[in-house]
Amino acid sequence: MKILGIETSCDETAASVVLDGRHILSNVINSQIDIHAVYGGVVPEVAARSHIEVINPVINQTLKDANVTWEDIDAISVTYAPGLVGSLLIGNLSARTLAILKNKPLYAVHHVKAHVYANFLNSDGKTPEFPILSLIVSGGHSQLVLFQSHNDFEILGQTQDDAIGEAFDKVAKILGLPYPGGPSIAKSAEKGNPHAYKLPKSKLANKYDFSFSGLKTAVLRAVQHEVGVDFNYPSTMLAEKLSEKQINDFASSFQKTAVETLVDKVVVAYNEFKPKSFVIAGGVASNLELRKKISASLPIQVTYPPINLCTDNAAMVASLGYFQSLNEKPTDPYSLDVIPSLSMKIKL
Ligand code: KG4
Ligand code: ZN
Repeated sequence: MKILGIETSCDETAASVVLDGRHILSNVINSQIDIHAVYGGVVPEVAARSHIEVINPVINQTLKDANVTWEDIDAISVTYAPGLVGSLLIGNLSARTLAILKNKPLYAVHHVKAHVYANFLNSDGKTPEFPILSLIVSGGHSQLVLFQSHNDFEILGQTQDDAIGEAFDKVAKILGLPYPGGPSIAKSAEKGNPHAYKLPKSKLANKYDFSFSGLKTAVLRAVQHEVGVDFNYPSTMLAEKLSEKQINDFASSFQKTAVETLVDKVVVAYNEFKPKSFVIAGGVASNLELRKKISASLPIQVTYPPINLCTDNAAMVASLGYFQSLNEKPTDPYSLDVIPSLSMKIKL
């Protein structure tokens, strides 16, 4: 079964054709990173406008790359939640229109769950076995989810404030590192000393919940202390006072603490639930330090998705669409709506 996936929830316009939920035939991603970099973050209106401009060429390109015509496409799947409303709308309206015009079944998928399906896209056809423990870490989400099957899952814990990717992005801003913060912190951290600054790990009532806002503030306070200013000093001007060594040391100490916080909880959950597989998903799953620590801490071999499938893409949307099509009726293309904030657990 060939599914066309469409993803526009944030700042990537993406379309992909996937065979049987596992084999990528094409994967086109038009990233807006350059457009938003000058603002230091995603500007929602600018993102929506850019999606409109490129959505049709991106879809046409992915059909061409996969060497298929509309006749070969069995169904369409699209991200309908969560994300930026203007961005979600463009992908959604495109998918609904195409489903009606081309007479294809339409499947609406949840973006955060779709991230997990990057792990099902494997050229050798091997997929993770249930029960699967998954750590979903992106710019908007940080959660530990236990899947008994595709449809039966439990959120063990989630962030109570900032998502981990958001913390990487905000700390990068404090340190004057370029957007997006995740990759630039990781690069700077390679040259730094992870023990240079001691940063706190938060403790929460539910042992599987996360909190990253305190860690971000702890970096801010430590930087202020290091350069000898108080909290009234504009945070956007702090980086000018830091040496390259100090920046690298802060990046490294922050990354170490953030990664340890995630890995500590993964190990506790692994020991409690003894899953058959463990997977990581979302943009922060591309972090090599995180991958290294997980591999060193779990007694099973962990396979990591390629970096371009960790950040936003439509192949994961097509894959989840396929697995939904095995158990679910298609959605009505005339009435599908977007839901900017929707927990993975609420089913509509
Ligand atoms: O999954 P994603 O592409 O978009 C969301 O659904 O949020 O994740 C983007 C997030 C950003 O916060 C970015 O800074 C972070 O993933 N990220 C990383 C790395 N690459 C991307 N964080 C840490 N290390 C990386 N190598
Ligand atoms: Zn995402």
